[in-house]
Amino acid sequence: MLELKHISYRVSTPEGEMDILKDISLTIPDEKLVVFTGPNGGGKTTLARIIMGLAQPTAGQILYDGQDITELDITERARLGISYGFQQPPRFKGITVQDLLQLAAGQNKLSKDRCCNYLTNVGLCANDYLDREVDVSLSGGEVKRIEIATILARNSKLMIFDEPEAGIDLWSFARLTETFEQIHAKHSATMVIISHQERIIRLADEIIVVAGGQIAHRGTTEEIFPLILADTLGSCPVMTRKETAQ
Ligand SMILES: Nc1ncnc2c1ncn2[C@@H]1O[C@H](COP(=O)(O)OP(=O)(O)OP(=O)(O)O)[C@@H](O)[C@H]1O
Ligand SMILES: [Mg+2]
Repeated sequence: MLELKHISYRVSTPEGEMDILKDISLTIPDEKLVVFTGPNGGGKTTLARIIMGLAQPTAGQILYDGQDITELDITERARLGISYGFQQPPRFKGITVQDLLQLAAGQNKLSKDRCCNYLTNVGLCANDYLDREVDVSLSGGEVKRIEIATILARNSKLMIFDEPEAGIDLWSFARLTETFEQIHAKHSATMVIISHQERIIRLADEIIVVAGGQIAHRGTTEEIFPLILADTLGSCPVMTRKETAQ
């Protein structure tokens, strides 16, 4: 179980101090699929970076399975079974897709079959990609899918995906959605997916709307989805609601 307690994140800007996250508290139980959604700039990626240890909160505490991990760095959190897929994944010149999958799986020799499985889950054909370098020769959508495959290979207990749909074609997106659905059905991991996509939002056990650095609302798909849709017709009652539901 992941618990965020009164998490705040303040940065210094030329205009002065700015609160990016304001006193966020939430609990994510094991094996749940939780979607963070909300307007651009709302604070979703910052929240994910704080959970992964890529940014240090200026206030608050993070507990994972009861252990205080607030001071742990990214490597220590990865060892505890937390992984994060970047909104814009890095490239690794000189490292092949197969190398990356093996590193992620923590095995010297990951069979071609296993590599193939991970790549198929994100709609890629292993024959075309295993020996490719993860460098600028890959398209944005390809790098994104390869990174998601490495997270699957890592077999983490808590996987955070930051807009996995970004730059991915419709066919691969459908395959990826199925993969998330299968992981969820097998109860093999907890997933936090940052997404703006209806198909992903509909998979969620719980939707958390992050806006203005706060939890604007949280609830089931049935409760939240109609309100998100209403936003397309005018101002969204979810995004503007000030209350913080716990
Ligand atoms: N270090 C920083 N210095 C100044 N502003 C920052 C910093 N980090 C984040 N921000 C600002 O905080 C806000 C939240 O950013 P964040 O990337 O978390 O948003 P997001 O909800 O992920 O948005 P998107 O849907 O566009 O990915 C943005 O306005 C961003 O510009
Ligand atoms: Mg973001």
